[in-house]
Amino acid sequence: MITDPRVLEEDFVPSEIAHRHDELEKLSHAVRPVLHGQRAPASLVTGPSGAGKTCLSLFVAERAGEQVDHPFFTRVMGWESRREVLQQICRSLAPAVETTSRSAGDLERFIRDRVDRDHPHLVIIDEADQVPDDILLQVLYEMPGIGLSLVGNHRQDILADLPDRIQSRLTPYEEVQLSRYSTEQLVDILDARVNQGFVPGSVSVEQIERVARAADGNARSAIGTLAMAFSQANLHDHASIHDEDIDAALRDVDGELRERAMDRLSGHHRVLFDIVVNAGTEVAATDVYERYEARVNEPMSNRQVRRYMQKLEEYGFIESGGENRWRTYQVKE
Ligand SMILES: Nc1ncnc2c1ncn2[C@@H]1O[C@H](COP(=O)(O)OP(=O)(O)O)[C@@H](O)[C@H]1O
Ligand SMILES: [Mg+2]
Repeated sequence: MITDPRVLEEDFVPSEIAHRHDELEKLSHAVRPVLHGQRAPASLVTGPSGAGKTCLSLFVAERAGEQVDHPFFTRVMGWESRREVLQQICRSLAPAVETTSRSAGDLERFIRDRVDRDHPHLVIIDEADQVPDDILLQVLYEMPGIGLSLVGNHRQDILADLPDRIQSRLTPYEEVQLSRYSTEQLVDILDARVNQGFVPGSVSVEQIERVARAADGNARSAIGTLAMAFSQANLHDHASIHDEDIDAALRDVDGELRERAMDRLSGHHRVLFDIVVNAGTEVAATDVYERYEARVNEPMSNRQVRRYMQKLEEYGFIESGGENRWRTYQVKE
């Protein structure tokens, strides 16, 4: 049934980005000065989960990188530590380099030696509202030849908590806002995957429409449902996708996507979620923080924990009630 299984993978960057023409132009435009080694405002890519932020950012960076003959970009996750981020940049600059024994300062020097205005590099910080370390942004921002692209749900969550001196450095920025997809747009995105990866006749138009409608504007959810329907069909030796394969996929897709999301989050997120799970009922934010501090060796600040909890809520693991010091959390069923 399938000829190219990559089309069902979440990290697959398609050869065409559908329905994001203006956003694509705007982001490409924002990245152009970086490509030419010029000082550029940071670019911000914002929008709800599944709106194509990561996909668009990687697509633009890959396309820009084709114009130079050195490694042009590194994508890191916002919750990674400064040292982890620097290690990854080093590894994309020089894949063979040994990074595990090096200090942050050493890694930073390594990057400075290789990146300059003739050899510029774009750092994409995904889930940038989770960055625990203001110094990281400052260090990167001040390195000649480095451009920054910050990806996250809301502009204010990326910028608001940053110290003024860093905020003022990141401003002006170029913001590319993505909105949820319409059902028709999701149909087109699914169609493109099906045409590229499936044997003709494996999925019907009605089935694609059904998957698109259920995904509620979220491309990750749409593609995830298709992938799970395909696994179901395989499991039952169906030669094409049956409607009951889609029934099963729709039943399980939210849980599956949540599991995948949890696997990608940091150890801190997992400890915090575990604390809420173990509480068994509503738990006060102050208690969460106390238990967290008791459980980890190098606890993050209160402010950072709040951001982690916000991410857990965005991903649908927990829900919160109350405000400020009355805030409580509980597992979302
Ligand atoms: N316009 C698009 N064309 C093709 N595929 C897309 C498009 N937008 C999103 N996708 C796919 O949908 C999935 C979710 O997109 P992603 O960029 O991860 O969303 P976000 O980062 O906003 O949560 C990915 O597999 C991505 O390749
Ligand atoms: Mg993303």
